[in-house]
Amino acid sequence: MFKRFRRLRINPVLRDLLTETKLSTDDFIYPLFIKDVEGSFKKEIDSMPGVFQLSTDEATKECDELKSLGLNSIILFGIPKVKDSIGSDALCEHGIISKAIREIKKAHPDMFVISDLCFCEYTDHGHCGILDNKIESVNNDATLEILGKQALIHAKAGVDMIAPSGMMDGMIESLRATLDKNGYENLPIMSYSTKFASAYYGPFRDVAESSPSFGDRRSYQMNPANRDEAILESLEDEKEGADILMVKPALAYLDIIRDIKNSSKLPLAVYNVSGEYSMLKVAGKAGVIDYDRVMMETLLAFKRAGADIIITYHAKEAAKILKEVK
Ligand code: PBG
Ligand code: ZN
Repeated sequence: MFKRFRRLRINPVLRDLLTETKLSTDDFIYPLFIKDVEGSFKKEIDSMPGVFQLSTDEATKECDELKSLGLNSIILFGIPKVKDSIGSDALCEHGIISKAIREIKKAHPDMFVISDLCFCEYTDHGHCGILDNKIESVNNDATLEILGKQALIHAKAGVDMIAPSGMMDGMIESLRATLDKNGYENLPIMSYSTKFASAYYGPFRDVAESSPSFGDRRSYQMNPANRDEAILESLEDEKEGADILMVKPALAYLDIIRDIKNSSKLPLAVYNVSGEYSMLKVAGKAGVIDYDRVMMETLLAFKRAGADIIITYHAKEAAKILKEVK
C-alpha cells in the first residue's frame, strides 16, 4: 500500500492550511546606503537595479515608503566624504552614519534602525580595520578598540541595534563590555557571526565603494569550504554575548543556516547579499526566469532553512507581493 500524498494537495485551501513556512514583511530588514553629500542625492547603482546611494534626506523619504509597505527595520551603510587609514569618519560624532541615525530617528522614531559596524567603507585601503604590516592584514586587537568607539558613537546617535560585520575575533565580547560600561546594556548586538569570504559581495562593493585596494578578505572572513568552523564561529559569538546570530551570504549556504539553527537557540538572521540579488535581476530582465516567483521561492527557502530574519534588497518588492496575497 502506497501513501497518497496528493490527497492533501488537490484543494487550495487545504494546501494553505498545511503550509509549513510562511513569509511575512516582519521577517525583513532593508539595507540603505547613505552617502555624505551636500543637498538631495539619489543615485541608482548599475550593478544593483533598484538599489540607490541616498543622501540623508532622501533616506528619510525612503522610510516613508518602507513604512507604507509594512517594513519597519533598516540597516545602514555609510559612504563618507573622506577616507583614511583608520576610517576616521566612522569615529566622529559628525560622521555620515551618526548623522543619518539622528536624522532618520528624528523623522521616524518608530523605524528600527540598525547600523553595520565595520571600517571597510571608511578606510582608504578598503579593509575592515587597522592594518598590521607584519601580517599584511587587519590587526585584530587594535581594530577591537576602534570598533568599541564606533559602537558608542552609533549608540549616542540613537541606533536601535548594532551589527558588527568585520569578523574580528573577540568582537562581541569586547563590544558588549564597552556598551555595558557606558550604560547601553539594553542595546542589542546582531553579530555577522558566520561570514564567508565570498565573491557574492561584488555588487555591494560598487554601491558601498568599499573594495579592498590590495589583497582580499580571506585572512579574516571564513573559508566557504568549512562547515564545522562555520558552526563554531556562531557558537563562539553566542558565548560572547551576541543577541542574534547571522549567516552571510545566504543562498549558497542553506546547509550552514540549518546547521546553526540546530546548534543554537538564538534568533538567526541571514544576509541575502548583493550578488544574489543582482543575479535574479539580470536573469529576470533577460526573460530567463519569472523574477517575482524565483524571488519569493528564494526568500522562502531561507526561512525554511532556519532563518528568523532576512536582510534583503528584495524587501520592498516582496512586501508588495505579500500585500496582494492578503
Ligand atoms: C562590510 C560588509 C559587506 C557586506 C555587508 N557588510 C561587504 C564585505 O564584507 O566585503 C556585503 C553585503 C552584500 O554583498 O550585499 N563588512
Ligand atoms: Zn568590512
